[in-house]
Amino acid sequence: MPIETRPLFRALASPDGPTVALMFDGRPLQAPAGISVAAALLASGVSTFRTTPVSGAARAPFCMMGACFDCLVEINGVPNRQSCLTAVANGMKVRTQQGLRSFDLPEPTETKVDHVG
Ligand code: FES
Repeated sequence: MPIETRPLFRALASPDGPTVALMFDGRPLQAPAGISVAAALLASGVSTFRTTPVSGAARAPFCMMGACFDCLVEINGVPNRQSCLTAVANGMKVRTQQGLRSFDLPEPTETKVDHVG
């Protein structure tokens, strides 16, 4: 009796299916709807997604599953977005992330401590 085999992986989006338009560092790109930003950029030949804060070395996706953080980019003005976990969207504006990005943390508030004794 023959054993039926099937591939372990399949493409979620068809290259012949619907596409979305996005921008990367001011360059227009087309990508299949439903794929991740990282997949779209890699398929478009992008090899630098971010640079490191200390040496400025170029980084690109490594794990494609949210573990390594080498795929960080700025998406629609928001830094530190994991492009491997973010789906492409029509009109999305993606930029290379340069070095360390700041977080918008709330201003520290003064805390008074009542001393006992
Ligand atoms: S590629 Fe590793 S977290 Fe995105």
